[in-house]
Amino acid sequence: MDKRYHIVTYGCQMNVHDSERIAGMLSELGYSSCDSMEEADVVVFNTCCIRENAENHAYGNIGMLKKLKSAKRDMIIAVGGCMPQQIGKADILHKKFPYVDVIFGTHNLNKLKDYILEKQSGKKSVIEIFDSEGEIVEGEHPLRTSYPNAWINITYGCNNFCSYCIVPYVRGRERSRRSENVIEEARSLVSDGYKELTLLGQNVNSYANGSDDIRFPALLEKIAAIDGKFRLRFMTSHPKDFSEELAKAIASDRKICHCVHLPVQSGSDRILKAMNRKYTSADYLKKIEILKKYVPDCAVTTDLIVGFPGETDEDFKATLNLVKEVGYSSAFTFVYSKREGTVAAKMPDQVPEEVCKERIIELVALVNSLTREHSAKYVGKTCEILCEGYDDKRGLFLGRDEYGRMGYFASEKNIIGEFVNMFVEEANGVSLMGKIV
Ligand code: SAH
Ligand code: SF4
Ligand code: F3S
Repeated sequence: MDKRYHIVTYGCQMNVHDSERIAGMLSELGYSSCDSMEEADVVVFNTCCIRENAENHAYGNIGMLKKLKSAKRDMIIAVGGCMPQQIGKADILHKKFPYVDVIFGTHNLNKLKDYILEKQSGKKSVIEIFDSEGEIVEGEHPLRTSYPNAWINITYGCNNFCSYCIVPYVRGRERSRRSENVIEEARSLVSDGYKELTLLGQNVNSYANGSDDIRFPALLEKIAAIDGKFRLRFMTSHPKDFSEELAKAIASDRKICHCVHLPVQSGSDRILKAMNRKYTSADYLKKIEILKKYVPDCAVTTDLIVGFPGETDEDFKATLNLVKEVGYSSAFTFVYSKREGTVAAKMPDQVPEEVCKERIIELVALVNSLTREHSAKYVGKTCEILCEGYDDKRGLFLGRDEYGRMGYFASEKNIIGEFVNMFVEEANGVSLMGKIV
């Protein structure tokens, strides 16, 4: 009988791509993927710890496997990624879930294959966490699951130490892949038929800083120059490093999408300082102005946090005002979550839960109204959509335009991976409904 694996992924796009790397390793061991844990011989939880609810999610799901594991003793359960990488967390996980067979972190993800083999050869459990990041691994064979989209890591780790954020502690110091490796990967993905490449890093703007390699704007231009029709995206840009050169690079080639994710987090200078973001709201608005000077139609999206320690009503109003001023096309909104080990976790004046709740409701309402405004402008116009999938529930194909708007439409034949022109008949919230023309 075929051996099967099932991977459960939490967290950001980088983790989604890490799961593709894990899938690549498991397929080299002869496993094929399956849709449920019940059918699987190996279950991998690729975890996230950015906020408490991400951890609780994973705890809940790992806990639910206890029964299945006692009925299926040969099943291998592995827990990896950002959660076990936190200091002391692997031991906590081992004690809480003694039936988990393999525990690994972010720095030794590429060793999972060996760990599975060790377990198969009779070891009771394999628990290994590396304290530091080590060399960048090249030459892996991720099993990509998002055709026509493909993710390409360009940097790993983060040096910014925003005071609320756990990422620098669980992903290590920032390091960049060599540009020749990145460009080669992009070239081979385009020749394999991928139509949208997204360059990934916690702060792509600081790509190759301090090395003799080319900088991020030049990397973008070189990848865009690869022959073929495809779209190029990148995330995430840190506002403090967003440069005029980058704005020019975006404008230099139509393959580069006119859509930039530029997380602001807060509109209050006092809070931005306490967050260690290294820019003021005025600096941020200046960056937007530079971006719009070169790319006037650029859609801007962002991340926002409410309830950072010490955030007053006035600070929160400053966030609302900045959101209105920029006019984001969409935004991710989060309630601050205290992360042990970060600087903010020790700050006094943690904001009460009820206040956070009120603020997030108000912020979400504002963001939704902006999103609706942006979507409404599409009605009666035609946009180019890259078809990415089929929605079984709606019985429609779906895909996004270069600005990131999701469009739904009918088609007789399977057109996943093709660019289509869609006439927009209706807009609701973040999605557009239309017909191919
Ligand atoms: N490197 C990216 C994204 C990091 S994580 C950046 O710098 O923007 C994605 C988002 O999660 C962050 O932008 C932030 O808005 C949010 N986030 C990070 N830590 C958080 C915390 N402790 N509580 C709430 N939201 C958090
Ligand atoms: Fe976290 Fe800040 Fe680094 Fe983004 S830039 S990953 S928010 S520390
Ligand atoms: Fe990503 Fe979560 Fe880790 S956001 S880097 S998977 S903590």
